[in-house]
Amino acid sequence: YSVSSAFDFNSALFPLSSSGAGYTAIGTPQTPQGFDLGGAQQSLEKHKSLTYLNGLSLVIGLIIGSGIFSSPASVNSNVGSPGAALLIWAIAGLLAWTGAASYAELGGAIPLNGGAQVYLSKIFGEWAGFLFTWCAVTVLKPGSAAIIAIIFGEYVVRAVIGADSTDVSPWINKGVAMLGLFFVTALNCTSTKLGTRSADVFMFFKFFGLLAITIAGIIVAVTGLAYNKDTLSTTWKTTSWFEGTSTSSSQWAVALYAGLWAYDGWDNTNYVVGEMIHPSRDLPRTIHTSLPLVILAYLLANLSYIFVLPSDIINASNTVAVAFGHTVLGPIGSLLLALTVSGSCFGALNATTFTAGRLVYSAGKEGYIPSLFATIGLSPNSQQMRLPRRPNSSRGKKFTNWIADEQGFFYTPIPAMLLNSLITALYIIAGDFTTLTTFYGVASYLFYFLAVVGLIVLRVTEPELERPYKCWIVTPVVFCCVSLFLVSRAVFATPVQAVVVLAFIAAGVPLYWLRVGRRKNRRRKGGAGGDSGWSWKFWRWWGK
Ligand code: ARG
Repeated sequence: YSVSSAFDFNSALFPLSSSGAGYTAIGTPQTPQGFDLGGAQQSLEKHKSLTYLNGLSLVIGLIIGSGIFSSPASVNSNVGSPGAALLIWAIAGLLAWTGAASYAELGGAIPLNGGAQVYLSKIFGEWAGFLFTWCAVTVLKPGSAAIIAIIFGEYVVRAVIGADSTDVSPWINKGVAMLGLFFVTALNCTSTKLGTRSADVFMFFKFFGLLAITIAGIIVAVTGLAYNKDTLSTTWKTTSWFEGTSTSSSQWAVALYAGLWAYDGWDNTNYVVGEMIHPSRDLPRTIHTSLPLVILAYLLANLSYIFVLPSDIINASNTVAVAFGHTVLGPIGSLLLALTVSGSCFGALNATTFTAGRLVYSAGKEGYIPSLFATIGLSPNSQQMRLPRRPNSSRGKKFTNWIADEQGFFYTPIPAMLLNSLITALYIIAGDFTTLTTFYGVASYLFYFLAVVGLIVLRVTEPELERPYKCWIVTPVVFCCVSLFLVSRAVFATPVQAVVVLAFIAAGVPLYWLRVGRRKNRRRKGGAGGDSGWSWKFWRWWGK
């Protein structure tokens, strides 16, 4: 089988731009070096619809989420001073920028769906893609959903009980996070369309929130006008911006992970490359405009926080936007921002659940996890379960026209979605924002690192490969150095999170042998051997 049989991520994410299908076209043309692309290069010619501006809004929309409204507490309290906090935001942004440029080259050179799974498989072998998928199913997808759900919970609780009451039990926040998760899961199990349609609506919320914070902060800084003048910060006028800066590299690492969370999503640039009308011209333009814009927006928002809020308030909670709204506009302001940010988080949670369901589903399809998770709908036999829906246009036509398409109700990867939500729920119970962003950061940057190393490897082994966009070689080298430092640093800075991540990856190694290696071996031996005895019976059952 080939990796490209995996679920069509592009069209799952952006069903309206109908990209991916063409990527796995017939024929397997090879590069001069014999690098098998599964027909991808040919079919890139099809389905091109995105312009520069479309790409720009897509990348920005993917990146801005919960982080800019929740990470500042973790960043500022760890590095200890506003100046150092701004530095962290700049460093994290630059790292994301180099990463996005590198991934763009990978996405152009290997234009298949599936992201890092495909790059790692093609460059290092299937084991690497397997480990990534395993880690994505158990750590990355549920981990990021848990972070977003927790922030959703905190902002909803703030919207309901108001900005002033500080002593809320974390279990109330977690309970609301669970409710949000439950609701989003139910929504995504019921229908594909409900899930994807709502995404556009929520995009509006986060743009609005970020813009409001920036403009309000600048106005307050210039005029000194605010609803709550007593809580207005003055320290930025009077004391040094770097006073109190932490000298502990562990604290800097934790702060960096919190900042990186806010920029995460840059790896999704790949979703854009294959659909661009002029990828070699517009992709670099998209990356090199959207990332600086996001960095600028985040720096401005953080400046606004610093101008308005004293550092003990910024450090105190993950709901900095509510405190900001309260100081500037009073209760109305805090309510407005609490609702806006919870809306933004809900949208992000919805999008994450949607793609996570598809990722788990495709892992089941590949045989990486039991095929139960590669079922659609409620029954394993659900090819027959398509619910009949009779569109008006089909009146009087043949019966076959009644069969609902893949967008029909309950025609969703329900077992996959439930697995993802179950693991997410465990993370919500076990972690809080800072532990989870660190945990997520360690796991994700390990694989970002590997994939970008793969880019360098590919430059050497496949120099002739067609690359619509080729980044400056310094870019991946810088990214590799910084992310290697970051990941190795985590072992000392946050041993618990690092060990848990390593344990998850290590658990994937025997699993690879059980689920993929054995199958390959058997094929190599012509199917003979190992097919009898209890162990084979067990694996045959497990592999079903
Ligand atoms: N940057 C986003 C936020 O601030 C998180 C993106 C989650 N990651 C992802 N690959 N979808 O909430």
